[in-house]
Amino acid sequence: MDLVITLDSHSPLPLHQQIYEELRQAILSGKLSPGKRIPSTREMAKSLGISRSTVTQSYEQLLSEGYLETIIGSGTYVCTQLPDDLLHSQPVKNIKKITHPEVKLSRYAETLFQTEAVPRIYENKLEISFRYGRPKFNNFPIKLWHKLLSKHCNSSLDWLDYSIEPLGYKPLQEAIVSYISRVRAVNCQAEQILITNGTQQALDLIMRLLIEPGDIIALEEPGYLSARLIFQTHGAKLLPIPVDNSGLIVSKLANNQNIRLVYVTPSHQFPTGVTLSLPRRLELLNWAKQYGSIIIEDDYDSEYRYGDRPIPALQGLDNSNSVLYIGTFSKVLFPSLRIGYLVLPQNLVPIFACAKWLSDRHLPILEQQVLAEFITEGHLERHIRKMRSHYDCCRQVLVKALKSHFGESVEILGEKAGLHIMVRSGLFHSKKLLKCV
Ligand SMILES: Cc1ncc(COP(=O)(O)O)c(C=O)c1O
Repeated sequence: MDLVITLDSHSPLPLHQQIYEELRQAILSGKLSPGKRIPSTREMAKSLGISRSTVTQSYEQLLSEGYLETIIGSGTYVCTQLPDDLLHSQPVKNIKKITHPEVKLSRYAETLFQTEAVPRIYENKLEISFRYGRPKFNNFPIKLWHKLLSKHCNSSLDWLDYSIEPLGYKPLQEAIVSYISRVRAVNCQAEQILITNGTQQALDLIMRLLIEPGDIIALEEPGYLSARLIFQTHGAKLLPIPVDNSGLIVSKLANNQNIRLVYVTPSHQFPTGVTLSLPRRLELLNWAKQYGSIIIEDDYDSEYRYGDRPIPALQGLDNSNSVLYIGTFSKVLFPSLRIGYLVLPQNLVPIFACAKWLSDRHLPILEQQVLAEFITEGHLERHIRKMRSHYDCCRQVLVKALKSHFGESVEILGEKAGLHIMVRSGLFHSKKLLKCV
């Protein structure tokens, strides 16, 4: 094998995790191509001068996540269909390639270049699209939105000017607080809300203000690719933590004092759909408090829960200012609105306000005004109720069809909430995931 694995004995990451990350990156970057045989654990341990059990631990993780496969009597190979391809919902070839410009780039730009964090191209004209996580646009109350837009557009011309409030339009902050404290049990005041350009900007600001290159970020595995890319491009070291039926396995963080931040989707884990259990929530909060780590709670679609009540947010259980809570209107309304919110501990508000002001001043005021009225007049919750029952019907049809066509050979996960389900099937590959809207 032409791959050189470099282990760093000073790294806070354990050796098995370093091997895992190097092999995973080599597979994803194409250095190790699908079908390529990789050395046995014995050979690898010998060449690295470490114990075989350490190598076995990293191979087992790659096997369980579908990056590697073993052929009995033959050896271990890079899988022909990789999990990250599937997590992109479209094959990786559907990304626009960027060519390196003939200029000296910053370190940040170089990491952007390497991770290819570019928009993916989606085929929109399919009769049935299995692209996940997009709301159904036909059901959006477009006339009402239009009416509110023209009302606010005409009522005064103040919205044309700069706002002096980088955190966001005050009535929108208030509307969001009243909504999330009631519906999500989030505990905060209006001035703790920073209105952002979606979850993406909230994550980007957190990275810029709280993370140094080399800091360790623990994140769910499998998990949300866009969050992973942001963390990587800011130079963080990633520590993937496996997820089981009760969510992130918090004990895997144990005693690692060097983890600066943990990113979780506790109400509806992306993509498996499991919920972080109450004991694990408490364990995670205790762990963060003990080590002074930050938890990012990405609560992207928990309004859509079928059958039982939405699970209260982790942030509401926190008594040590460990949790930064992120919400978004991308799923409950529409993603091009580009409005999300970050709930900050009081002491972080001024610095985040500064960074937001310097970066893009503030979000457009007209849309914030419209959204504030949409929420306070009860339209948001009405729309969510309507869409919940619509998605519930679609979900039942899809689950029934999958069961009747594939029977016992498919395992359906995460169908109790959200806008996607996950299907695991031995038909495709023992460890492969197939995600559906
Ligand atoms: C886990 C997760 N978080 C957040 C988002 C929404 O991101 P944004 O608010 O930037 O549109 C998505 C969208 O697919 C998601 O899957």
